[in-house]
Amino acid sequence: MLRCDIITLFPEMMRTVLDTSMLRRALERACLDAKVVDLREYAVDRHRTVDDVPYGGGVGMLLKVEPVVRALEALRSDGESRRWILTSPRGRGFSHELAMEWSRESRRLAFLCGHYEGIDDRIGVTAPWEEVSIGDYVLTGGELATLVMLDATVRLVPGVLGDPASIADESFADSLLEYPQYTRPAEFRGLRVPEVLLSGHHAAISAWRREQSLRETRRRRPDLFERAHVTKEERQRLADRDERT
Ligand code: 6GU
Repeated sequence: MLRCDIITLFPEMMRTVLDTSMLRRALERACLDAKVVDLREYAVDRHRTVDDVPYGGGVGMLLKVEPVVRALEALRSDGESRRWILTSPRGRGFSHELAMEWSRESRRLAFLCGHYEGIDDRIGVTAPWEEVSIGDYVLTGGELATLVMLDATVRLVPGVLGDPASIADESFADSLLEYPQYTRPAEFRGLRVPEVLLSGHHAAISAWRREQSLRETRRRRPDLFERAHVTKEERQRLADRDERT
């Protein structure tokens, strides 16, 4: 079970997605516990202000420190242990490896969704934050990043998908890309499903899929192909068949 807290300025957005996607299935199957914390509820003034202008001038608004600290205090009062995750484009890159680690984490994952042009830097001393980014581009807020990371993590939690036992153990970097797949009909506007898949010959199907994975990985992601678990014999066989075409 993945347990998390999401501190956000857009609680409705988070609840909506949690309620409609695969994340909902995880919640229903008790594989996920997600507590949405509305940062605005922890504002200190009657206008419920959560942002302010930067000292020294500059464009845009910053997330204020007091509402965040009050929200953290409220969370901490339950005595649970947590990992503190700050979504930020300057963070460490999120990856399948981090998703695997989080999917096995027993502590709660507390996500603070960064917003506006930034955040008061004193947030840094309020918890042992792990800053995490989902890629080299800038989002208007951390909510979508948090949902991306939760989605990638929760599918690795046992019981969320059908559970092909291996799914949670496979490193992305050491593995191959998917082979092509097809469902009915066997012919659509003249496009036929590869015959071997209709043959019922399981060994031939496995061999075909393996070769397709190898080819697609080598073509699209030569970096992954070099690190993948591919035997000398398989490389040789692929090369032999290349020559013949
Ligand atoms: Cl985690 N947050 C924001 N605001 N922008 C991002 C990001 C996160 N990752 C990439 N860009």
